[in-house]
Amino acid sequence: MRALICREWGGIDGLQIGEMTVPEPAADEVLIRVKATAVNYADAIMVAGKYQTKPQLPFSPGLETAGVVEACGAEVTSFKPGDRVMAVLAYGGLAEYAVAPAAETFRIPDGMGWAEAGAFAIAYISSHVAIRWQGRLEAGETMLVLGAAGGVGLTAVEIGKAMGARIIAAASTEEKLAVAKEHGADDTINYSTDRLTEQVMALTGNNGVDVCFDPVGGPLFDAALSSLGWGGRIVLVGFVGGIPQIPANRLLVKHRAALGSSLRYFRWYAPDKLKRSVEELLRWYGEGKLKPLITHRFPLERSVEALRLLTDRQAFGKVVVELEPG
Ligand SMILES: NC(=O)c1ccc[n+]([C@@H]2O[C@H](COP(=O)([O-])OP(=O)(O)OC[C@H]3O[C@@H](n4cnc5c(N)ncnc54)[C@H](OP(=O)(O)O)[C@@H]3O)[C@@H](O)[C@H]2O)c1
Repeated sequence: MRALICREWGGIDGLQIGEMTVPEPAADEVLIRVKATAVNYADAIMVAGKYQTKPQLPFSPGLETAGVVEACGAEVTSFKPGDRVMAVLAYGGLAEYAVAPAAETFRIPDGMGWAEAGAFAIAYISSHVAIRWQGRLEAGETMLVLGAAGGVGLTAVEIGKAMGARIIAAASTEEKLAVAKEHGADDTINYSTDRLTEQVMALTGNNGVDVCFDPVGGPLFDAALSSLGWGGRIVLVGFVGGIPQIPANRLLVKHRAALGSSLRYFRWYAPDKLKRSVEELLRWYGEGKLKPLITHRFPLERSVEALRLLTDRQAFGKVVVELEPG
């Protein structure tokens, strides 16, 4: 099969299209003929050898997929060949075939096309588990979302609105903020031109926010922490801007919490919560509350260009790689 292949650790420009053997599904896995997938910032971290998962070389990156079940492992009873599915993967999504655990494979709802399905799983599920189970966002609370037009950021905006919260979207350009607003943000802050904490305090009557969803970290983290009100929770989702240090005294003084959220935890240790998150997301999708944003589509051969949009900070929503358009 054709696949994007990582043969040595390094930058995304070292990735090449080549031939790989079609993977065999284990007893609890399904083999999927891929129709569409999407790139994630984590793919770039993984091929650099800096991600939590470090596959054996050579491997194909790619954390999600959508397609048709081609074959099922001996213990799989929930799917059969021909089913339309989307799945979360450890890696291997940027290829013509992918294997996924049946427990992390989900039926594609009616009306959802291949591109939307290929771009749905990682961003929406990661944001939902982070906000629902770690952030414990309640209706009527206020949530600040950093990187609010990015892959996970934009889904966090929509999920926060679906949960009945007020959303303050923060991003680096006016164009990105306009996208966040179209997807439901109530207020916006441009953190490349304005001071984040001051703006949050002005928008919240000096109370600060209840939850901050942070996929960025780096120099923004300090201001994000200061933007939390009494009892505020900052949910750490990613560190595209760098890994910050947490001054413990600033948690105690306002009874705040900093919580890590890893999709892998929910996949490995809390599958019931993962399942409930997916059910809620698919219900909201059916009700029209979630509108996946796909701004770019590339064929497999141009996967590196797709990834470069993320590493160059040029992407909005999701960037899809289509194997069979339609
Ligand atoms: N914990 C989990 O379970 C989980 C799951 C999925 C993803 N993640 C992590 O979440 C992070 C975001 O992933 P994603 O796929 O949503 O990425 P993305 O689509 O590229 O979005 C990242 C956003 O971060 C902002 N940013 C700030 N500094 C940046 C920089 N130096 N380079 C690129 N972007 C920068 C950008 O917004 P502005 O330009 O507006 O600042 C961008 O929109 C990654 O670290 C990823 O590993 C974690």
